[in-house]
Amino acid sequence: MTVNVIGMPDAILKERRGDISVLPRPHYAMMQDAVGTKGRATGAKQAPAVVDVFCGVGGLSHGFYKEGFDVRAGIDVDLTCKYPFETNNGARFVGKSIENVTSKQVNRIFGKTATRVLVGCAPCQPFSVYNRKKKNNDKWKLLLNFADLVSRTQPDVVSMENVPQIRSHSVFKKFVSALKRSGYVVSEYVVYCPDYGIPQGRKRLVLFASKYGKVELLPKTHSPKEYKTLGDAISKLKAIKAGDVDPTDPLHRCRNLGELNLRRIRSTPEGGAWESWDDSLKLKCHKKKGGKSFRCVYGRMRWDKPSSTITTEFCNLGTGRFGHPEQDRTISLREAAVLQTFPKYYRFYEEEEDITFAGLARLIGNAVPVRLARVVARSIRRHLEQVDKIVIR
Ligand SMILES: C[S@@+](CC[C@H](N)C(=O)[O-])C[C@H]1O[C@@H](n2cnc3c(N)ncnc32)[C@H](O)[C@@H]1O
Repeated sequence: MTVNVIGMPDAILKERRGDISVLPRPHYAMMQDAVGTKGRATGAKQAPAVVDVFCGVGGLSHGFYKEGFDVRAGIDVDLTCKYPFETNNGARFVGKSIENVTSKQVNRIFGKTATRVLVGCAPCQPFSVYNRKKKNNDKWKLLLNFADLVSRTQPDVVSMENVPQIRSHSVFKKFVSALKRSGYVVSEYVVYCPDYGIPQGRKRLVLFASKYGKVELLPKTHSPKEYKTLGDAISKLKAIKAGDVDPTDPLHRCRNLGELNLRRIRSTPEGGAWESWDDSLKLKCHKKKGGKSFRCVYGRMRWDKPSSTITTEFCNLGTGRFGHPEQDRTISLREAAVLQTFPKYYRFYEEEEDITFAGLARLIGNAVPVRLARVVARSIRRHLEQVDKIVIR
């Protein structure tokens, strides 16, 4: 196998470079090509440097990478992220909690010359609808650690992505106030992913903070009539059974279902859920008065709409609308990765690495869809161009 200067197999890089069908290649991606692989050579304009806090498997970073930013490093406590983050983004992984990352370390990674972009997608679970009632979740304060890192490293632009519900939380208000105190202009947008051609009905909050004024989000690229559907995204993948794997694609594998759950999914029509089941298949909670609030659990997706939001639990039938629209199974790891708009070449694990199915599902479900990350990156790029900051300082 031949590898190039950034240590990436040539075949992967070639495929990656080819996969720019959605959006034209930006000019400083060209600059990177002109100056070498990572835009760090002298004598040419330099691509903005990105450090990704809470980097996970690298969905957010990969969007920046594909938009020609110089992704320098990702920071995450979960060491299973190291291989996929480094392999797909040609950047370094720092396996640490944000609480133990020093400004000196981040400053060193940024270096002295490039425009600095600090991005982060703190764990969403404490802010999601399902966990709102848990008052003392330790993970809330990670957002304040992020604000602290911003104030100590003074990046030019910051971006943060999370669930929209975060806005009603006091920690978020503290986060925004801290950014403003550090001299940033903050802008927030709730993004509905299908508006940007993502085949998934995910809604996310995207926050920008810049030293140079308001960062505007790019305009929507798709009208409802043009939304990408589940069918557009996954209908060409091979049919597999519950518990099976496609021998030609190790990621196209799905969880096995017990006899009861098999009977349940067989009784569920496309787009339906447990309401159509025989009483003997229903759970106690379904039969209670408030049972209707569990409308989506055990649901099947629909071919003609964007999918439901992919969570870390997409491999379980009982945790959402994760049933395949016609095969009697939940969606596979590959299908979830496609719905998260990861390109086919994205490597999630090392061949011999011991990673569990649930571990992979967590990495994939936690990610920022790569296409959304590209929209975020492009919005920042346009802003930096407008304020004339894509230059060596
Ligand atoms: C929503 S995911 C980030 C997804 C990632 N941005 C992507 O696009 O693939 C949140 C990440 O925060 C990480 N995390 C949780 N606690 C952390 C901490 N104290 N320090 C650093 N990372 C942490 C988790 O391991 C998880 O990977």
